[in-house]
Amino acid sequence: MINIAFLGNKYISDEIKSLLSGDAIPTTTTKADIFILSVDSANDLINQPKRFDKPTILYIKKNDPNLISIIKNYNFSGILTASISKENLIKKIMTIPGMESNKNIDELEILKSKILAKAENIPPLPVVAQELLKLTRSDETSLKLIIEKIKTDQGISSKVLKLINSPFYALRKEISSIDQASMLLGTTTIKNIVLSISIEEFYKKNFSLYKTTGNELWQHSHDTAVIAEFLGKKCKLDPDACYLSGLMHDVGKIVLVDFLLKEVDDYNDEKKLTGTTHQEIASVILSKWGVNKDIINAVLEHHNLSDNIFEKVLYYSNQISHNMNDEGLFETIKKELKIKIDDLLSILEHFRDSKHE
Ligand SMILES: [Fe+2]
Ligand SMILES: [Fe+2]
Repeated sequence: MINIAFLGNKYISDEIKSLLSGDAIPTTTTKADIFILSVDSANDLINQPKRFDKPTILYIKKNDPNLISIIKNYNFSGILTASISKENLIKKIMTIPGMESNKNIDELEILKSKILAKAENIPPLPVVAQELLKLTRSDETSLKLIIEKIKTDQGISSKVLKLINSPFYALRKEISSIDQASMLLGTTTIKNIVLSISIEEFYKKNFSLYKTTGNELWQHSHDTAVIAEFLGKKCKLDPDACYLSGLMHDVGKIVLVDFLLKEVDDYNDEKKLTGTTHQEIASVILSKWGVNKDIINAVLEHHNLSDNIFEKVLYYSNQISHNMNDEGLFETIKKELKIKIDDLLSILEHFRDSKHE
């Protein structure tokens, strides 16, 4: 028998009390082992304390879409969002303490389906990015037309120039126009840089539960893209596809971050908390955005070393982007991808310099 204090809405509490009769003893907050706080909807939480001194399960009658964002601020040990069977309710109580690591399967399944639904409803890419994604290397004329359009957009142009003038591209003099840039670096480089810029908006949110900022995460994606493009060229792969895979590899985090209830270190933590990972969510987002299958597969596998050379390039590019000083990693890459280490080190030097600016 468990001692439970029933808090919140009296009528809803009575429903749970009768459901638990025979298994629980209703008691006061001082004598209780756990609390069950019953509310009708997420709005009712406003009047409730944010911290409870005993493990507390939230029982919410109406399935409210705002719930996820509101409950982040509370320290609940479990959440029941819909009508629940006695069996599941007891199972839920028995998993306390530490609901984050012991969430029952049903609850994770519900959460996962909500996350997938949000990924399915991701806003489309900006029009310019949609147009660029459709182009191949042979579409020089269309690419030039798009670049002409970009030139008329002050915002994008100045961002392109800022990225191009970063030490990575190792240009001897400062570039001040898009025309100059496309002459020196080629239209494809401009295309890829514009793609990076066009997804920046999606990263403008709070990523503190990933222990990073939106800007850092976007910068990491761009770095990974540039490294992947470089390695891709060396490995005789399509460098644009490599770039895109690097750029998009962590895009799942832009949706998943809204569902994390505490800080995470890696995708295993994501899985425990949400039932899914940023790789899986990225695959949903990328298919919505019409990105091709090979890229989606590489993104799905970017935390596992596979035998596929394209996937390997993305895997190592992500690793390099995280560990730019890891000599052992460079040695491994040299052997695995059979590329000259000098080229790799010189590109990383530019990266490192740019980080210290
Ligand atoms: Fe990742
Ligand atoms: Fe990453």
